[in-house]
Amino acid sequence: MMKTNDLLEPTVFVIFGGAGDLTWRKLVPALFDLSQDRSLPADFSVIVVDRVDLSDEKLHRRLHDGVKKFSRQGKVQSGEWSEFARHIHYQQGDFKKLQSYTALGEQCAKLEKLWGAKAHRIFYMATPPSMFGEIPKYIGKAGLARDREWARIVVEKPIGYDLESARALNAILAANFEESQIFRIDHYLGKETVQNILAFRFANPLFEPIWNRHYVDYVTITAAEEVGIEHRGGYYDRAGALRDMVQNHLMQLLCLVAMEPMVSFDADEIRNKKVDVLHAVRPIPPDAVHQSIVRGQYGEGWVAGKKVRGYREEDGVSPDSQTETFVALRLFLDNWRWQDVPFYLRTGKRLTRQASEIAIQFRAVPHQSFPPEASLGWQPSRLVMTIHPVEGIVLSFQAKYPGPKMQLRPVDMRFNYCESFAAPSPGAYETLLWDVMKNDATLFMRADQVEEAWRLLMPALEAWKTTSPGDFPNYAAGTWGPEDTQGLLAHQGHRWPLPAELVDHCNMKGKNS
Ligand code: BG6
Repeated sequence: MMKTNDLLEPTVFVIFGGAGDLTWRKLVPALFDLSQDRSLPADFSVIVVDRVDLSDEKLHRRLHDGVKKFSRQGKVQSGEWSEFARHIHYQQGDFKKLQSYTALGEQCAKLEKLWGAKAHRIFYMATPPSMFGEIPKYIGKAGLARDREWARIVVEKPIGYDLESARALNAILAANFEESQIFRIDHYLGKETVQNILAFRFANPLFEPIWNRHYVDYVTITAAEEVGIEHRGGYYDRAGALRDMVQNHLMQLLCLVAMEPMVSFDADEIRNKKVDVLHAVRPIPPDAVHQSIVRGQYGEGWVAGKKVRGYREEDGVSPDSQTETFVALRLFLDNWRWQDVPFYLRTGKRLTRQASEIAIQFRAVPHQSFPPEASLGWQPSRLVMTIHPVEGIVLSFQAKYPGPKMQLRPVDMRFNYCESFAAPSPGAYETLLWDVMKNDATLFMRADQVEEAWRLLMPALEAWKTTSPGDFPNYAAGTWGPEDTQGLLAHQGHRWPLPAELVDHCNMKGKNS
């Protein structure tokens, strides 16, 4: 039996591009996990739309395989799967033909008749980005977006390729849907550890009074990946790390770390506070891009004991590609709280190890009153929020080393999810799909936020069109990126948390979200 939640209203979940990777790897496993947690309505149907000729049976087989591989539930009982699969139907359709959408409308109406109740209609765009501008127009033309309360659209990233295309896409969405009906996904926002940033900052009075330029020296935000580009050469070689990770995931983390306290937990209140952070980012002058941003591309090397090829040898990548697989940048926020505090952001593929984390580096004490020999190992305090794959928080501070003499040594206080909470964290997509069904947009990006993030990065994207990146590849797979990355921080006496420190700080049993 599918374990349903009778309190939820009937819902039809339409996935455009349902025969693709996202549906197989993320969406259906997340829906299956929700079904096992009694988080789907009793009247629930998934309609998978795609161009290929596919029977329900074939589709189910493929989706079952995805659920077995990627579902949080791990082992899937065949009875549970077949009960869930009964709710999934395939509809072949051309995304550029109105009749595909009218047929969809008829199918939704049929389901409503069967259930004897009006249903929420969620349209999820899981297609290649080239379809993002088309599908909303047809949904609009077919009259499927008309009901402001019951119809919703979910848009995957990338939302645009640059500021201009993001504006154009937002305009198409706005012509067919109200902003309140549009859910722009950034899966980082669904991660428990990312949501916990707000809980940590604003549900505890402890750190907020020192969360500012008077006590914080600098902040580093890292999203390091061990993986390369996997099977996505075609997409990635056109996008690069700045578009793929910084414009969305890293900017979201920056907003959550730097925003002012919200007045309420209202979706727009939180999103307003986040947009304020982006407004405060000091624009990077076009002629100073190379001083504020370092880009890199991996060559061959060793990752986790295995020899891996360089980026230019990956499938779907041009052999003389100039696309960056690594970016590090320095930003400043012009506001009272953060004036002159550098925020260093970095992300890259094929780095030494996977680690997403935010490190708040506190200032040194104003006066060092211990004898010099006591403080040889002394380090300013640091708070690290580890996002992924380890989930936790580590606070490093000074303690007296045991013994007759006064000697200071840094020590760690650790919180980790697996020790503190018995319940496993839901996957990011589970959280986000559940929120779409509940019509809660708190964890989704608003049009102005997306555009503002693009605006900040445009000087770099423009400058890179005309300047050569230099000697690509400029870092070996399995390292922490190009040498120049250190230069962004070094002249201020700052440094990226060293890999060894990352290992030390995150030496907790984590799991993927
Ligand atoms: C995606 C990017 O948005 O995020 C990928 O397109 C990246 O390139 C992925 O690998 C990282 O997400 P996570 O959850 O694995 O850290």
